[in-house]
Amino acid sequence: EKGGYDYFMLKEIAEQPKAVADTLLGRIDASGALRLDEIRIPANVLREADKIVVVACGTAFHAGLIAKYAIEHWTRIPCEVELASEFRYRDPILDHRTLVVAISQSGETMDTLMALRHAREQGARVLAICNTNGSTIPRESDAVLYTHAGPEVAVASTKAFLTQVVACYLVALYLGQVRGTKWGDEIRAVIRDLAQISGAVERVLETMEPVRELARSLAHKNTVLFLGRHVGYPVALEGALKLKELAYMHAEGFAAGELKHGPIALIEEDLPVVVVVPSPRGRSVLHDKIVSNIQEIRARGARTIVIAEEGDEAVVPYADHLIRIPATPTLLQPMVATVPLQVFACELATARGNEVDQPRNLAKSVTVE
Ligand code: F6R
Repeated sequence: EKGGYDYFMLKEIAEQPKAVADTLLGRIDASGALRLDEIRIPANVLREADKIVVVACGTAFHAGLIAKYAIEHWTRIPCEVELASEFRYRDPILDHRTLVVAISQSGETMDTLMALRHAREQGARVLAICNTNGSTIPRESDAVLYTHAGPEVAVASTKAFLTQVVACYLVALYLGQVRGTKWGDEIRAVIRDLAQISGAVERVLETMEPVRELARSLAHKNTVLFLGRHVGYPVALEGALKLKELAYMHAEGFAAGELKHGPIALIEEDLPVVVVVPSPRGRSVLHDKIVSNIQEIRARGARTIVIAEEGDEAVVPYADHLIRIPATPTLLQPMVATVPLQVFACELATARGNEVDQPRNLAKSVTVE
């Protein structure tokens, strides 16, 4: 059942290229346009939506944070992303023009379910992004877009996460398509790029041995920090979450721009800091900023673990360890940049003698508040 792997988590990490491809399958027609007939929310309702609110927990919340960048860029509809457990205890401003997107692998997470009930009571439409057919969250939503990751057994979410990002992007692009925004050509180009991502993830998986070695060499450490900017920021949060839950290490993700506002005080000699570097192509200002962040922390003694695109030479002088990922458009980078962080956490957990598939104190689906 583990298909020759020691852990379900390893098997599920390896299944990611297929999970991503399966989630796109049948949803793009021959002309390169999206076919999401399964979203039964009428086109006029989607056209009139004036706000999108994403609610989710844990790793699914990180997928939502990434989606915000894409949704706002492609649809120009304001988008908020909120932890389901916080959303439901505020007094959120929602009405029939609000589209709520509830992301959940299991479809049974109590906080997310309560958040969507709360949203529907205020008249909002709820679209679920879910990996489990017929589970409670899609049953109680107005519509559902299923991720096709297949069953995820390991408690730590990996392949479901990548497919949640894909599904969110499909929703964002579909909204752009239905609303006929000026992004028409861009949308087609992104759909083509999305179709390439599965192959890029495959290539990342082929080069993970140095990441495993690095993880083993850090098994005695107490703390690892993660930095990112733009969509790399949620990737940093996800890297830190994986390390906490699997390796039981203190780990934190920060927006690199926040360093000077506090976190840089944490930097000390030989502290491992993982930095997710945006592409030097496209929005190069982001790239330049993060290169200076790497210099700043390294000057203060940090051991820098740099995740950067192939061909990005600017980071080389400042990287104590360099992890290469294939070049992708900026918004799609999280799907390749997260993979080494999953492998890193899994290997650290193994090196520390932890139970990879069943971390202590955690359950696969959190059906209590
Ligand atoms: C982390 C992890 C959890 C889940 C969270 C939401 O690896 O698996 O943080 O992402 O409990 O679960 P779902 O997506 O089932 O609602």
